[in-house]
Amino acid sequence: MAQRRSVEFFDTQFQRQVRDGDFALNPFEKLALAFVHGQVLEFGCGLGNLALEAARRGCTVTAVDAAPSGIEHLQAQAAAEGLPVRALVADFESWHIDRNYDTIVAIGLLMFFPRKTALAMLEEIQAHVLPGGIAAVNVLTEGTTFLGMFEPDHHCLFAVDELRRAFANWEILVHRGDSFPAPGGTLKVFSTVIARKPAPGGTKP
Ligand SMILES: C[S@@+](CC[C@H](N)C(=O)[O-])C[C@H]1O[C@@H](n2cnc3c(N)ncnc32)[C@H](O)[C@@H]1O
Repeated sequence: MAQRRSVEFFDTQFQRQVRDGDFALNPFEKLALAFVHGQVLEFGCGLGNLALEAARRGCTVTAVDAAPSGIEHLQAQAAAEGLPVRALVADFESWHIDRNYDTIVAIGLLMFFPRKTALAMLEEIQAHVLPGGIAAVNVLTEGTTFLGMFEPDHHCLFAVDELRRAFANWEILVHRGDSFPAPGGTLKVFSTVIARKPAPGGTKP
């Protein structure tokens, strides 16, 4: 399978991180970890730092990403620690969520797809969270000027408030924006939503 440029970018980064022993959780993974529970899907797990930590805290985790070096590391580490992690290499252009989960996490993933695909993936995430379960989603938004890891016609930046609006019928537990400086004086602007899916017949608090 030919890899997309964005996946090659991350696969190279993960190889370097494994070599350097750099497995620190990023701020969004730390934030999401407080809400993950039960059967967890990490959609676009990268190196699997969140997946491993969730499993250490008692979750059963399925973790999927197209970058082989991240998945190889995750499989090896989960086996070494005897953790309940199923880790798969798959491309989300063709792989779809196969069952429902208590928690679905997608950090830094959806902007690597054309808008129509990204919105369909967001709907797919929402559809596969069990009632009362959690979705934790983080994307880059308009205002981001660091574009080096994107393919010109194969990415999208979300509108600043778009993620929150997409979860309008859910109980929003966290909604925040973050900006970070990036190489060459550029900027990364993120939106994060962590939300609970309403139970059938329940009302939004
Ligand atoms: C910014 S990284 C985020 C990784 C991890 N969630 C984190 O927070 O560190 C984006 C991830 O999306 C994955 N990705 C990008 N395009 C993909 C595709 N078409 N199919 C599967 N994974 C993809 C990359 O391999 C990479 O691991």
